[in-house]
Amino acid sequence: MINTIDILNYIKDSLLFKKIYFYKNIGSTNTRCFKIQNKNNFIVLAEKQTRGRGRYDRKWVSPAGKNLYFSLLVREPHIEYNKLCILTALAALETLTKYSTGIRLKWPNDIIYKNKKVCGILIERKFTGSKLDFTVIGIGINVSADFSRIPDLKKTAISLTDIIKGHDSRPSEIKQGTAGKKEINSEKILLDFLKLFERYYLHFPDMEVRITAKWAGKIAQKNEPIRFRIRDNVITGKFKKVNPDGSIVIETGGKENSYGFGEII
Ligand code: BTN
Repeated sequence: MINTIDILNYIKDSLLFKKIYFYKNIGSTNTRCFKIQNKNNFIVLAEKQTRGRGRYDRKWVSPAGKNLYFSLLVREPHIEYNKLCILTALAALETLTKYSTGIRLKWPNDIIYKNKKVCGILIERKFTGSKLDFTVIGIGINVSADFSRIPDLKKTAISLTDIIKGHDSRPSEIKQGTAGKKEINSEKILLDFLKLFERYYLHFPDMEVRITAKWAGKIAQKNEPIRFRIRDNVITGKFKKVNPDGSIVIETGGKENSYGFGEII
């Protein structure tokens, strides 16, 4: 379970977030952010979500106490949407990479291990007319849920615990649990992520070029044939590269096209 004291200490020193709201059971941390009246940047963290949401209106399975479910509400619009996706994905990737090699990015911001998702990011925005009021960055990290028992998810989702069980990891990051099994500390993962996110966020745009280059270097499937869904169309082509603005370049029939959004399927 999450040790709130360390998180409250982090908030006390944070230059970005002023408050954290904890919930035992909630519909969705992203949805809750839209309802909380608070003029500052804040965090919503839940032990369980009953209506966890993923991208493209998908459901995000959120069992109690197994994984991390949290959302960050930020008000300053100094970072454009694409770049926010990039910096969030990089902070999550670098946090999880401490536990295992082989964790990669699936364009634009899924964190995967052998093509199974270990962390998903859902970024939503609230506008009044054309003015951006705030952005909500929702992050779900599969820490210890056992997806092998969930038929719909066993081929597409994996937890950090399951990655480590079968893979090379850095022992210094793994605590010996009371049952004698390797146990991952969710609170440390959360704090590591928040500190990295805060650093990247506050130092943007100074770090923009470096962050984008690091992110681009970790994207999987480059130079491979891919199927790409954009709105209702599916394109088959070769994933050539990512542009400096984060868009993907796909070659189809000898022609290269860039796409700023869409999904590799
Ligand atoms: C995706 O990969 O489709 C994005 C998944 C995002 C899930 C997180 S869990 C915390 C936050 N609250 C939600 O309802 N969704 C995000």
